[in-house]
Amino acid sequence: MTRQFKIDAANAALSLVEDGMKIGLGSGSTAEEFVRVLAPKVAEGLSIIGVPTSERTGALARELGIQISTLDSYPHLDLTIDGADEIDGRLQLIKGGGAAHLREKIVAFASDKVAVVADHTKKVDMLGAFPLPLEVISFGLVATKAAIEKLCKNEFGLTAKLTLRENAGAPVVTDNGNLVLDASFGRIPDTKGLATGLSQIPGLVEHGLFIDIADVAFIAGPGGVETISRAASA
Ligand code: A5P
Repeated sequence: MTRQFKIDAANAALSLVEDGMKIGLGSGSTAEEFVRVLAPKVAEGLSIIGVPTSERTGALARELGIQISTLDSYPHLDLTIDGADEIDGRLQLIKGGGAAHLREKIVAFASDKVAVVADHTKKVDMLGAFPLPLEVISFGLVATKAAIEKLCKNEFGLTAKLTLRENAGAPVVTDNGNLVLDASFGRIPDTKGLATGLSQIPGLVEHGLFIDIADVAFIAGPGGVETISRAASA
């Protein structure tokens, strides 16, 4: 069922695609559904260039016959379609559950419009139940962790439980060669403040808070697809 909701959201996002666009292709299972619904349109003659946010999405797009390129070749994109781990009512997001949030944020930042595709389980009243992904450099990791904990406690009264992300007993390494810490807060009342504070910490390459980046979200559930746009949610 959840897969069908992801497909429904992906299909709704197709309405934003126009011939000739350069499109950022997000990462994760819902963004991959978008790649899958886009591919038949390309086969029918739609001309677009995709800029993938991860090696995995790039491989899928290539396999399905979508022309892909890089942000260096196309530094200005018309549209990005991506998933999210949490979405609040103001279209603020937590991303990075797939460890791709650094490239996702760079691609989103280069895009005229950013659309989120998700199933209804991603919608929350307040961000923070999903552990916040933090891409970090391995050098000085203990000092970086200490700086994050200090900032969270002193500035925001948040106790951050930081866990090094692992897979099959080995640290997860991002497409950029970095590590990921997951910060369990439970709830993040001041998302903008925390995003700004975390951005100041050397060694923390990028956090998964996407503040004022998404323009529209297509959220699919049993009642159909809900469209939330930034203007309406502000
Ligand atoms: C990838 O790092 C993430 O930002 C994904 O966009 C996010 O985890 C959503 O993935 P799903 O669509 O698989 O839930």
